[in-house]
Amino acid sequence: MKDKQLSVSAIKNGTVIDHIPAGSLFKVISILKLDKLESMVTFGNSFESKKLGKKGIIKLSEVFFETEDINKISLVAPTAKLNIIRDYEVVEKMKVEIPDEVTGIIKCVNPKCITNNETATTKFAVISKEKVQLKCYYCEKITSQDNLVMV
Ligand code: CTP
Ligand code: ZN
Repeated sequence: MKDKQLSVSAIKNGTVIDHIPAGSLFKVISILKLDKLESMVTFGNSFESKKLGKKGIIKLSEVFFETEDINKISLVAPTAKLNIIRDYEVVEKMKVEIPDEVTGIIKCVNPKCITNNETATTKFAVISKEKVQLKCYYCEKITSQDNLVMV
């Protein structure tokens, strides 16, 4: 029998973000502002994955991320893997990693925090990576996974 597989075409140069939890695909698209990209973007959701059950994938032609963007991805999709593609070959694979400190990116959960009332950039210490918990450097309140709001 012919092998029936759902396929998304390969890219020549760029980045493939793979192993995104199915519920996080659109968060990744939003946090990286992919709607503003002019280059070729393909994405798919709810693909079968042995590890995650279902996964999302994003393929970006001619895009290579800097650490700041990779840190953003890690906060909303900690299981994501980046594949760097050059001339159709995967030349590098990396797991995203939640950093020890997060500057900007996320809003502090405390409405009275200085960062929500004056133009101070948010800054957090990451106190848990398993289930993300961020401790505000200014007001010491904890912003956790379930209430992550992007700046
Ligand atoms: N890929 C792509 N274009 C290429 C090469 C690879 O879009 N020119 C994509 C593949 O479709 C896959 C991902 O990049 O989603 C990683 O490719 P590869 O390492 O070949 O796949 P796997 O071994 O299945 O990856 P993993 O290590 O994540 O299991
Ligand atoms: Zn705060």
